Amino acid sequence: MRRVLSLDDYLRLLPKTELHCHFVSTMSAGMLIAQAERHGVPLATTDPAALFDYRDLADFLVAFEAAHQVLRTPDELAAVAYDGVRAAAAAGALRYREYFVNPQSFAEVGLGYRPLMDGVIEGLRRAEADFGVGFSVIVAIRKDVTPQQAVELVRLVADEPYPEVVGIGADYLTAEGTEDPARFADAYALAKRLGYATTIHAGETPNAGPEDVRAALDVLHVDRIDHGYRVVDDPDLLARVVDEQVPFDATPISTTICSGWELGPDHRLARLIASGANVNISTDDAVFFRTDLGREYRERLVALGVDAATARRLALSGVEAAFCSPDAKAALRARFQGELLALDAALEPSTA
Ligand code: ADE
Ligand code: ZN
Repeated sequence: MRRVLSLDDYLRLLPKTELHCHFVSTMSAGMLIAQAERHGVPLATTDPAALFDYRDLADFLVAFEAAHQVLRTPDELAAVAYDGVRAAAAAGALRYREYFVNPQSFAEVGLGYRPLMDGVIEGLRRAEADFGVGFSVIVAIRKDVTPQQAVELVRLVADEPYPEVVGIGADYLTAEGTEDPARFADAYALAKRLGYATTIHAGETPNAGPEDVRAALDVLHVDRIDHGYRVVDDPDLLARVVDEQVPFDATPISTTICSGWELGPDHRLARLIASGANVNISTDDAVFFRTDLGREYRERLVALGVDAATARRLALSGVEAAFCSPDAKAALRARFQGELLALDAALEPSTA
């Protein structure tokens, strides 16, 4: 007998990548509170109901920053890494993830680059073996550091190589509260020379504009853009990114907090997707935004007016935009194609 899948089940079972995922934000509320207590780190609140409430991106970044301070040893990092994958694999049919890790935030509590990466990668490797979720790591520059400190971080990454660390990104805001990609021109030039893939948070925040995405493309020559929604405010730039198929690592629910927008068919992300841009979907800060990848597809994409065929396209875009090796990408593509064959055949005809 032919099984029929609802749209909700189809979106839940759709194999997915997540290319825009900040490592510390995969930590559960229970772990965050327990670790904060263990290391004497004050949190804004320990009320689980209010723990993940934020007024805006700047307010969120305070909580995000504190979360780095509660993880002090490779074992603690490995436990967060492993548990985060277990939860995501169950919730969203996650098959591959790329993690932003901020060494400059961990350094503030004295954790060095090697113990940091040893812990994160050990946990993720164990989780890959148990849950079949592949991964890569992108070292993220904090935008509130100096251009010179950003260059030093890229040098450190190259001096302490791990096969899993494949990219350089940049997150947070500058000390002035701007995005300002061009500030990190030297760091990105060095990253490119050293063979790292590159991406940057741009075109996300209320005081940013399409010019921040243009700077990321024309000054930094990044391979992908994290967020980037504000390109829809500039028709010429939008036409260009569609033509060049620049990958956008988009994060729907996160825009309701960090950009201040409601989800709906007129949302900039809905317009970006409808324009034919190369978009893939992530959570940004899964636990810290009370979300998971399954919900981003089943609830938030649906709120943006995305149908099954488009969601399928976005999921496959995540495979093609991944920073993993060509062999790993070919294996991931084959896995997606196999799973999609069965899923597509079972989709209820009215929702296809
Ligand atoms: N760090 C974690 N999430 C972020 C976001 N959405 N923007 C900037 N920095 C971040
Ligand atoms: Zn982000």
